[in-house]
Amino acid sequence: MPIVEARSISRTYRLGKVRVPVLRDMSITVNEGEWLAILGASGSGKSTLLHLLGGLDRPDKDNSKADSGVYFQDKPLAGKSRRELDRHRARDFGFVFQFYHLLPELTAMQNVTVASMVRYGFGYLGQKKQVREQATELLDHFGLADRMKHRPAELSGGERQRVAIARALVNNPRVLLADEPTGNLDRETGQGILDTISDLHRDRKQTIVMVTHDPLVAKRADRSLRLVDGVLDQSPSENAPMTPVLQD
Ligand SMILES: Nc1ncnc2c1ncn2[C@@H]1O[C@H](COP(=O)(O)OP(=O)(O)OP(=O)(O)O)[C@@H](O)[C@H]1O
Ligand SMILES: [Mg+2]
Repeated sequence: MPIVEARSISRTYRLGKVRVPVLRDMSITVNEGEWLAILGASGSGKSTLLHLLGGLDRPDKDNSKADSGVYFQDKPLAGKSRRELDRHRARDFGFVFQFYHLLPELTAMQNVTVASMVRYGFGYLGQKKQVREQATELLDHFGLADRMKHRPAELSGGERQRVAIARALVNNPRVLLADEPTGNLDRETGQGILDTISDLHRDRKQTIVMVTHDPLVAKRADRSLRLVDGVLDQSPSENAPMTPVLQD
């Protein structure tokens, strides 16, 4: 079943008088429970697409197509106010970024719980105990039980990324959006992060959209699509299971 869809969206950046078309009339469907990888060269628009799917950015307004836009569970994001979009993002999505984006002054634990403060706002106080339990469980699960009070500068790259994944998961998002989650790590540490993501996918049936420029990383996903010249190459990917050809 589709959970997130983009229907005929385009995204053009404007720098002064220069128009930079990045995505051109492209569509994509993310199914519930799948791990989808989006491959593409640097500058092909992968991050742009991920931000649009997660409601961090909006596509170009296209008046020529009535149903163009991003949909979550079949409902268009286009009509939502900024506040509604913020709420949707905090509740339904977890983001993992290439450069962690952890807050340097906060401990690992605080970096995780801050995502719940964003989600619950003033209601956070009522949720605090439960959120702390959930954060402890996640950090523990990711092997960071004795790193909870460490600040990002006191953690290794792989540990920082695991804190960032715990932060992305603390609100039990419907979809995890990961932008080059291993891009800044050595191969071995990167493999460890991919194992973590793979376990999540297997054990929690977590829906994952992962952006990468590395075909070996994309191979770990159930399905991969490639962004080329602003559109997705929809031809079957190598990691799709072979369909038997029946001959009579
Ligand atoms: N805010 C912006 N204003 C203008 N141009 C932008 C902006 N953000 C991105 N671009 C341009 O859009 C194109 C796609 O950028 P994007 O970050 O989506 O690529 P990417 O595939 O994620 O690349 P990378 O693999 O290097 O992260 C690039 O050519 C970039 O220069
Ligand atoms: Mg990018």
